[in-house]
Amino acid sequence: MNKLVAELQHQLRERQVRQLVVIADATVSALYPHYWDELSQEFPTIFMEVPAGDASKSLMQAERLWQQLLAARCDRDVFILNFGGGMVCDLGGFVAATYKRGVRFANCPTTLLAMIDAAVGGKNGINVQHVKNCVGTFCQPEFELPCDLSFLHTLPEKELLSGFGELMKYAIIGSPALFCELEALERLTPGHIQPEWVDECISVKHEIVKRDPYDLLERHVLNSGHTYGHAIESLFAEEGRPVAHGEAVALGLLYESRLMAQIGQCAQADASRVERMVRRLYHVPAFTEDEVLRLVDFMQQDKKNRDGHVHFVQMRGVGDVSPDCRVALDLCAKVIR
Ligand code: GLY
Repeated sequence: MNKLVAELQHQLRERQVRQLVVIADATVSALYPHYWDELSQEFPTIFMEVPAGDASKSLMQAERLWQQLLAARCDRDVFILNFGGGMVCDLGGFVAATYKRGVRFANCPTTLLAMIDAAVGGKNGINVQHVKNCVGTFCQPEFELPCDLSFLHTLPEKELLSGFGELMKYAIIGSPALFCELEALERLTPGHIQPEWVDECISVKHEIVKRDPYDLLERHVLNSGHTYGHAIESLFAEEGRPVAHGEAVALGLLYESRLMAQIGQCAQADASRVERMVRRLYHVPAFTEDEVLRLVDFMQQDKKNRDGHVHFVQMRGVGDVSPDCRVALDLCAKVIR
């Protein structure tokens, strides 16, 4: 039994769990059909599967899961384990937080992105009409499990790059030393991801979430790169060529650091470091004028906005960010052009 499964066994025993539901997407179910075999000998386990891909972060899939929980006669003592990437953690967390007004759950993240971000901090949700995380709750998992980095070896390159976008974000908001290590990275393969990097991101996130669990202000810094990033995701989803979340965040970090340099908040040298790192690993698309306008339109729907301006995370430099920076719409468009 590996460390992760042993820890879960311990936690479930402590809580005297009698009914376990594992939610996974079709890809993870197929790759790891026996991962929970030892555990399910002790805890009666029901496996529920959702189609792979962000499109499953939907009301339809949430309803399917609620119906399956009902059909399996799960009561409020059921324990839900979300086994997968960001989509499964977000959707499964939402289902757990709402089924019978809330049942206990934990996440077992299998992607880099989920390990360092989605599985930590208690946010969950679904998308509505291409608006990301439009409906959701704050609900903390019962406990966090140790990350099993061996999952990364079956992760498609695109997903690893996606997780790396979030990794860069954590380095920018809270760990200049980590940023330097990432700058020295020659290639990105699963073997290059250091367990200490994952731990560092999680500890940056814990610190921030501890101070602002309900995202009232300080936690907004975790949305670095996301104002542009969510808009890019929404645009590409609408165009039928979805982009991975963390890849959109990486592009968002590039545009946001450019924007901050443009308005004199961030030293050009730091903005250039971010731009160099993003360009080294990601394709930076050229947007048409129509796309730029649609991106700005999506940005106006961002949850951080309040007064007709777009609200960004203020980046003053690598490792130096604060939550709130209002920027006029025309400037937001200018840096993409
Ligand atoms: N992923 C951003 C947050 O947890 O606040």
